[in-house]
Amino acid sequence: MNVGDDVISVRGLTMGFGDRVIIRDLDFAVRRGEVFVVMGPSGCGKTTLLRHLLGLQEPISGEVRYGDERFTGASPQERERILRRVGVLFQGSALWTSMTLAENVALPLEQFTPLPASSVRAVVRLKLSLVGLGGFEDYFPWELSGGMQKRAGLARAISLDPELLFIDEPSASLDPPTARRLDALILQLRDALGTTAVVVTHDVATIVGIGTRALFLDAESQRATAEGAPSELRARGPAQVRAFFEGSVPGP
Ligand SMILES: Nc1ncnc2c1ncn2[C@@H]1O[C@H](COP(=O)(O)OP(=O)(O)OP(=O)(O)O)[C@@H](O)[C@H]1O
Ligand SMILES: [Mg+2]
Repeated sequence: MNVGDDVISVRGLTMGFGDRVIIRDLDFAVRRGEVFVVMGPSGCGKTTLLRHLLGLQEPISGEVRYGDERFTGASPQERERILRRVGVLFQGSALWTSMTLAENVALPLEQFTPLPASSVRAVVRLKLSLVGLGGFEDYFPWELSGGMQKRAGLARAISLDPELLFIDEPSASLDPPTARRLDALILQLRDALGTTAVVVTHDVATIVGIGTRALFLDAESQRATAEGAPSELRARGPAQVRAFFEGSVPGP
């Protein structure tokens, strides 16, 4: 596969809970090498979409494909194989608090690879140093700042060298400078590892700072109402999308 190929395609996806539709008829593709942003106000369905991409929730209708493979409707074994190429950092970093950083990052390696303990330790050191946490192997999550915890969560998300990285609200609960450093780290990882990233956020600075293309979900019309380069959407998108960019900019 080459840069620019579709790594995920979503076709006619309608999502909801029971009879309640959240978003209908979603059509979009995530291209290899880009930072694809799913944006919109709180409650519009961003995390719900991420859950559909991971098979944690089933569509009302439509489908999700990874490359040439159908994900929706695939067997649990096929899904597991497809998702081995995906690393995830959920809203909040979700580290195990009773484990050190090294143990947290080692977990997927121990679970999914036959690597001997010495190699696991070497990979863990490498991943922690990639996120700027070299030397913090034996710290517990509660001994770290919020920004460091997010970075440790990222180290765990990249432990299996994923082709795709999903990140839900990277900047939530971080102060602006720390959030910007995390944005920069996401770009660095994309460049260093050749990863494609799907970032879910309502943080305008993140969207404009690192997004290649963005998709806007609108709760009112229950549709995706815009897709394109963030700077383009901010300047010339539909009125409601421009308002989202305006309204979310921190005031003076
Ligand atoms: N388990 C659930 N059962 C019923 N409704 C749900 C459930 N989870 C989410 N919803 C509803 O679906 C809608 C979308 O929620 P979702 O969490 O996807 O929003 P979001 O865009 O990620 O918001 P935020 O920016 O606050 O994280 C909301 O109206 C929410 O109330
Ligand atoms: Mg959410």
